[in-house]
Amino acid sequence: MTNAKRGWSRPLAVLFWSLLSVGMGVLPVQAGIANTKHNLSPSSTAGNNSVSAGTDEICVFCHTPHAADTTAPVPLWNKRLLTGATYTTYATLNSSSIDGEILPVGSISLACLSCHDGTQAMDNLINAPGSGGYDVTGGGANGLGYTWQGTRVNAAGMLTNSTTSLAMLGNDLSNDHPIGIKYCGGGPTNAAPGTACTDPDFVAPTSGVVNGNTVFWVDTTGGTAARNKTDMQLYTRTFATGAGPSVECGSCHDPHADPATPNPGGLPSSGATFLRVANTNSAVCLACHVK
Ligand code: HEC
Ligand code: HEC
Ligand code: HEC
Ligand code: HEC
Repeated sequence: MTNAKRGWSRPLAVLFWSLLSVGMGVLPVQAGIANTKHNLSPSSTAGNNSVSAGTDEICVFCHTPHAADTTAPVPLWNKRLLTGATYTTYATLNSSSIDGEILPVGSISLACLSCHDGTQAMDNLINAPGSGGYDVTGGGANGLGYTWQGTRVNAAGMLTNSTTSLAMLGNDLSNDHPIGIKYCGGGPTNAAPGTACTDPDFVAPTSGVVNGNTVFWVDTTGGTAARNKTDMQLYTRTFATGAGPSVECGSCHDPHADPATPNPGGLPSSGATFLRVANTNSAVCLACHVK
């Protein structure tokens, strides 16, 4: 009797849980980027002000598994990128307190700006979802012609600003924190981990050799040797004095960070602004600046 009962209850339980998970499949339960404003599909629950009715895919607005732009500075990139010369940088201010060299816009920052400069449609995709739909120009500045709705996107799918929102940075970046700037006020004095900065106003970066390449980051997790997503990433670029660590959009932001999921190591979540660590007590700024 007990056995028979067990025999029935197990399949019933399986059925119950599978029905529940099928039901939940249509509900917004996934953690991660799906919960963020970088989910540009209608399934986003992040209160997006810019949503495309074009597809329910999430990654496709940035990555493609095939036919990616191999000149892009980010992996498997699916969007047309402008050149660095299109942008006005912080260097034009000639700030007398800047020590490091500022390069033209490049690296991961170019990829962020392919949406955040507001000059081209966010559905400018090289490889559109599904079979076919390959266009190396991504449809040009006006993209694939998806339907967009929201207060921070225009009908053509370009990010716009309201009087209270700054999601669209434009292509004049002289009023934004410098990017393409060499870290450490001119670089670390050598490439060894924990090495001193040329300028002591900066926290010394950590470095490591990954697949034969030296990579740099500023540790936020209290000296754990490994490179974590919650560390401030520095991107290696070529400066006048040679290769060195550069601050880019991705130094402070992780485009996949879900505000609802606490970070590894118990660090607070990043909030809605995709920060690598929450900026409580200016933790983002103080990760790099000794102030
Ligand atoms: C809004 C744009 C955007 C979306 C959407 C996006 N990514 Fe990314 N992704 C990036 C950028 C930018 C980088 C480069 C990060 C860097 O260099 O620090 C990246 C890097 C990556 C990497 C390599 C580095 C890492 O963090 O592991 C993987 C893997 C990745 N993305 C997977 C995905 C997947 C899977 C999805 C969809 C579920 C997705 N991404 C959606 C922008 C995006
Ligand atoms: C495919 C287009 C696209 C790319 C590429 C992209 N973003 Fe976004 N980003 C958006 C959209 C759309 C929003 C949401 C705007 C809204 O609805 O308020 C957004 C929102 C944000 C926000 C939050 C703004 C706010 O006011 O809440 C930040 C921060 C951000 N992005 C940073 C980045 C960074 C850094 C990168 C590169 C690593 C990047 N984005 C790449 C489209 C993009
Ligand atoms: C040195 C760190 C740092 C760098 C580099 C950086 N950001 Fe940010 N960004 C921040 C912080 C911190 C915030 C949150 C500001 C706030 O809470 O008001 C932010 C906010 C934003 C917002 C939301 C603005 C708003 O108030 O609605 C966007 C969009 C954004 N960043 C995009 C970018 C892009 C694109 C780049 C590269 C061109 C970039 N960021 C580079 C630190 C940085
Ligand atoms: C990833 C490391 C990093 C983070 C995080 C960071 N900065 Fe910076 N910041 C730099 C570097 C590098 C420079 C260039 C300084 C130099 O070369 O003299 C700089 C420059 C500046 C400047 C000076 C520009 C000038 O004209 O001299 C200010 C102000 C500044 N940052 C404020 C902030 C604030 C506020 C935050 C937090 C929202 C922040 N930074 C986060 C690395 C960082």
